[in-house]
Amino acid sequence: MERMRNLRKSSTIRDLVAETNIKREGLIMPHFVLEGEGRREEISSMPGISRVSQDNLLRDVESDMTAGIKSVILFGIPQRKDASGTEAWNSQGALQQAVKSLKKSFGDELLVITDVCLCEYTDHGHCGLVEDGKILNDPSIDLLAKTALSHARAGADMVAPSDMMDGRVRAIRDLLDEESFFDVPIMSYSAKYCSAFYGPFRDAAGSAPQFGDRKTYQMDPRNGQEAERAIINNIEQGADIVMVKPALSYMDIIKTISQISTLPLCVYNVSGEYSMVKSAAMQGFIDEGRIVNEILTSFFRAGADMVISYHAREAMKNKWI
Ligand code: PBG
Repeated sequence: MERMRNLRKSSTIRDLVAETNIKREGLIMPHFVLEGEGRREEISSMPGISRVSQDNLLRDVESDMTAGIKSVILFGIPQRKDASGTEAWNSQGALQQAVKSLKKSFGDELLVITDVCLCEYTDHGHCGLVEDGKILNDPSIDLLAKTALSHARAGADMVAPSDMMDGRVRAIRDLLDEESFFDVPIMSYSAKYCSAFYGPFRDAAGSAPQFGDRKTYQMDPRNGQEAERAIINNIEQGADIVMVKPALSYMDIIKTISQISTLPLCVYNVSGEYSMVKSAAMQGFIDEGRIVNEILTSFFRAGADMVISYHAREAMKNKWI
């Protein structure tokens, strides 16, 4: 009989043989940034997460840094939305201003990643320009590149396009290079599925599409091989880091991509995944700390190099990990 229990008999021996550790430096905390000052709006569908103005963002980030969080990803929530998402590349926009002040306060101690997309900025809520009910590809990537450039000019350490238009990574790389931002890497949301797990985020960002859905640009959850093609395609376009999103229902994709990609892999533990855990924990149905530890462990076991998670703050502060 093989005595498999021999290596489980004490916590010291379990730690000795453990194959996976949660990489704390690999956790990225998301933030929703508002215009103005002194603002903090709780997001009802994401208990524990708020939209904040720049001053409160600085406070939150500083306290997270004390707990050991070193990276953030920022989403801008503008007051004015229009058909082409003009606010997205406004150098005085909430997100651009927030990047500037974070970099000024924390320098290289903090890695600032910016989400590049139009859906938070367009009045129709789609991630690109719309004509006759269709989402246009090529004109949209010009605007996305302009948006990424405005983030780089504000001082972003890395830009993360999440729109899923074809050719955006190349367009962003070319424009950044042209403007001498050679050293700003691109984290591409490469295998981003059309998912109901984004529900609470759209509530948080007011970015739900006003007509139709995102099926003509985000990936079909039925497809696995397509994710491999999408990753290879994004690498060829010049991505520096690739991403799989959502996470929990896409562990097979995470595993496959980690095996085929030679680039670092980011996994996005999205809003719906967070809210499900949170609401069950609030009702006392589950042990939140242990569940969050297990979920974060599973991403690293599947092959993630880094994880964007709304749980990051509490996981670090409460020593769940
Ligand atoms: C913007 C964007 C979305 C998310 C990240 N960037 C929403 C969407 O595609 O509808 C989702 C993040 C989350 O659910 O936590 N395109």
